Amino acid sequence: MKKGFVFDLDGVITDTAKYHFIAWQALAEELGITIDLAFNEQLKGISRMESLERILAFGHQAEKFTEQEKQALAEKKNTHYVELLQSLTPNDLLPGVKAFLDQAKALNIPCAIASASKNAPFILEKLGVKEDFQAIVDPNTLSKGKPDPEIFIKACQLIQVQPSDAIGFEDAQAGIQGIKAAGMYAIGVSVGEPLDGADQIIHSFTEITAKELQQR
Ligand code: G6P
Ligand code: MG
Repeated sequence: MKKGFVFDLDGVITDTAKYHFIAWQALAEELGITIDLAFNEQLKGISRMESLERILAFGHQAEKFTEQEKQALAEKKNTHYVELLQSLTPNDLLPGVKAFLDQAKALNIPCAIASASKNAPFILEKLGVKEDFQAIVDPNTLSKGKPDPEIFIKACQLIQVQPSDAIGFEDAQAGIQGIKAAGMYAIGVSVGEPLDGADQIIHSFTEITAKELQQR
């Protein structure tokens, strides 16, 4: 019997990956680095600073900037990203997400957000679902990013559910690894890319109900 649901945000609740990509691509272009959508896959689930490091390494510019300059570059990307987020509305929830959250609420199953994004509370507010989550892990409190299980273990603690009694939802390979390492049941949300190690793959929340997952 499962007693709690833990969700990644970007690519699971809403498709903000495209906005991350637009903002990273613009910054990379300014630095003379060209990134494409295939490269962007690597940035899913990875923190802002780590994403920047990967882009700089890809462009052979890893040694070019001081720590302070890197902070400024990441800040610039985030300002652009937050501008793009202003247009988000509840219509940007991925299909079936709101119905699934309503089902969880009706069954008294607590839901938590385990996202590396520091913009998660703002995004959830724009989507009109912030109140549907009993907990949002603050990424500032973490010592390691995904694929480390820390964020998922913390989410389970916040909703007071044992990891073995929880289900995690992820669209990134690093996230699936983290969920499994936490000892949880992993559902991969995939729009086509393979997700190794997931217990179950869905393409959309319209394919599942909270009630049937409760029996897992
Ligand atoms: C999520 C996304 C990543 C992003 C990270 C940090 O995990 O999948 O692509 O880099 O959040 O997001 P932030 O909004 O804090 O820059
Ligand atoms: Mg994601």
